[in-house]
Formats: sequence, C-alpha cells, structure tokens
Amino acid sequence: MSIRPRRLRTTPIMRNMVAETRLSSDMFIYPYFVVPGSGHKEEIGAMPGVYHFSVDELLKDVEKGLKHGINKVLLFGVGEEKSEDGSSSSGDGSIVPKAVSALKNKFGDDLMVITDVCVCAYTAHGHCGVLEEGYVLNDETLDVLVAMALSHAEAGADVVAPSDMMDGRVEAIRDGLDDNSFENVAIMSYSVKFASAYYGPFREAADSAPGQGDRKSYQMDFRNRREAMKEADLDETEGADILMVKPALAYLDIITEVREQTNLPLACYNVSGEYSMVKAAAKQGLVDEQGIVMENMYAFARAGADIIITYHARDIMDKGWL
Ligand code: PBG
Ligand code: ZN
Repeated sequence: MSIRPRRLRTTPIMRNMVAETRLSSDMFIYPYFVVPGSGHKEEIGAMPGVYHFSVDELLKDVEKGLKHGINKVLLFGVGEEKSEDGSSSSGDGSIVPKAVSALKNKFGDDLMVITDVCVCAYTAHGHCGVLEEGYVLNDETLDVLVAMALSHAEAGADVVAPSDMMDGRVEAIRDGLDDNSFENVAIMSYSVKFASAYYGPFREAADSAPGQGDRKSYQMDFRNRREAMKEADLDETEGADILMVKPALAYLDIITEVREQTNLPLACYNVSGEYSMVKAAAKQGLVDEQGIVMENMYAFARAGADIIITYHARDIMDKGWL
C-alpha cells in the first residue's frame, strides 16, 4: 500500500474538487479616494492603477465595477480644507457625505457603501484626532468621530468603518447612531490596526501623513499578539458588527487567531504598501502579477478572513482572475 498525496493533484478538476479554500466575489471590498470638484480622475503616483476621483467620475467608475461584480466600496475623502480639529470631515458639504448620497441615489441597494471614519486627511497636523502638545486626545476625538460617522449615516452610508484606534470609539459611534435612528447602520471596526510602514503609499494618496511624530501612541505595536486579541474583544463588546485586521499579509497569524476568538465576520485590509510592492515587482517583471495576487488572496481566506478589502479587487474582477 502506498500513500500518495500526489494522486489528488493529477488534474485541474481533481485539484479543484479537493481545494480547501474558495474565494467568491462576495468577499471583496474595493477602496476609493474621492476629491472635491468635477471631471477629475488622476492616477495616484504611489499606487499604480488607483485614482483620485471627483464624484461625477466616481459614479462612472463604480458603474463599470458593478458590471464586473464589485458591489461593495470603501470611501476615503481627500483634499478637504484642513484644520486643527478636522471639522471639515463632517456636515453635508463634506466630500464623503456628498459621494455617499450621489452613489446611493444612483445605485440604491445594488451597491453597499462603506465609509472610513478618521480625521487624519482633514487635520492640519495629519494625526487621527485632536492634538494637544504632541498627544492625540482620546475622548475629545470621540466627539469628532461620532459627528463624522453621523454625517456619513445621514448621507445614506450602509456601514461606517472607524480606523482611528481611539479607545471607546465603537461604543461612542454605536450610541451616536442609535440615538439618531440609525440602528441599522453597521460598524465595521478596524479593531486590530497596527502602526505600520505598509501604509506609506496611502498617506500620499490621502495626503494624511502626520507632520510630526508617528501614530504609535494610538495604533498597535506589531510585536503584540495578545493585545490584538484584547482590541478585537473590546470592539466586539462595544458593539462592532464586523471586525478587521490590518495590514493583512504580515499578520496572517493574527487573522487566524481573531477568527478563532470571535463569532463576528472578520475582514482583513490588504493595504497600500502591500499593493504597491506587488505592482512594482510585477512591472519590473520580477513576479507574475496574477499569480502573486491570487496567491495572496487565497492566503487571506485560508487564514480565516471572510472579507477582503483590496486595491487589487478591480483587476481580479475585471480580468476574470477568480
Ligand atoms: C486612516 C487610514 C489609513 C489607512 C486606512 N485608514 C492610514 C493610516 O492609518 O495612516 C491605511 C490604508 C492603506 O494603507 O491602504 N486612519
Ligand atoms: Zn487616521
């Protein structure tokens, strides 16, 4: 008798039958960077294939994506007036609420609209909250975040996604939403968000790099695994509907462990640096882009992610890589 694992690897049909991990278009969320103005579509230097869109151009691009099965988008606002407290992040004149209502008016429930809730693209200092003597104040920042989340909900957002890492923000946002009759607006929390060099290209895209210092007093230390479980647990207790681990590739162990700890759906964010590294290597002919991208996607799913936020989603769907 010989045990030969290779028997199950003989043909594509056989391999597909015994595959342990499957991907579906339902898992993908595609991020967009929205800017004020009109007629604007400009590629972001640090992120080839990703653009700044004004709302009119955004509508056209989302329509194209929908045809290929991208029915969930995550919106970031860029280019609003910056201030000390980031107050241009809320109110119906603000770019994200404008984009949300335009998208929901045009596509209704054919499109799920998720919004990033954080003020670093709206503060003059580039930190994710209200800054005092170099420290980001926690509870003062909560008020700004609740206002931002509420203005997204008022515009029609289906899901708000706080990415700031202040303590207690999920509870504060949940209470704010519920008090204003938005009990059906869901919260996808960036629960386990590490202070990471992988966000480099995003900070060019969102013009959100901190002028001074770094984000280590609020984002997590990447040496910590138990603390990641604590953050995930806290967000669940505070009322998050979906948890998230970010970045994704270097944190597959964390994805697996959070998946085991919670009964909530789990997302991972395949961030800008992970994307741009693949794009740059593929452009140089060092790796096969489709091969690398799909290997990464399966790795996220195999680790335990139910939902994958990725800038590769359009390539995957438009080019039929699934
Ligand atoms: C804002 C935010 C960041 C990302 C998502 N929301 C940047 C940061 O925290 O510095 C990163 C996304 C990416 O790199 O693709 N807080
Ligand atoms: Zn931020």
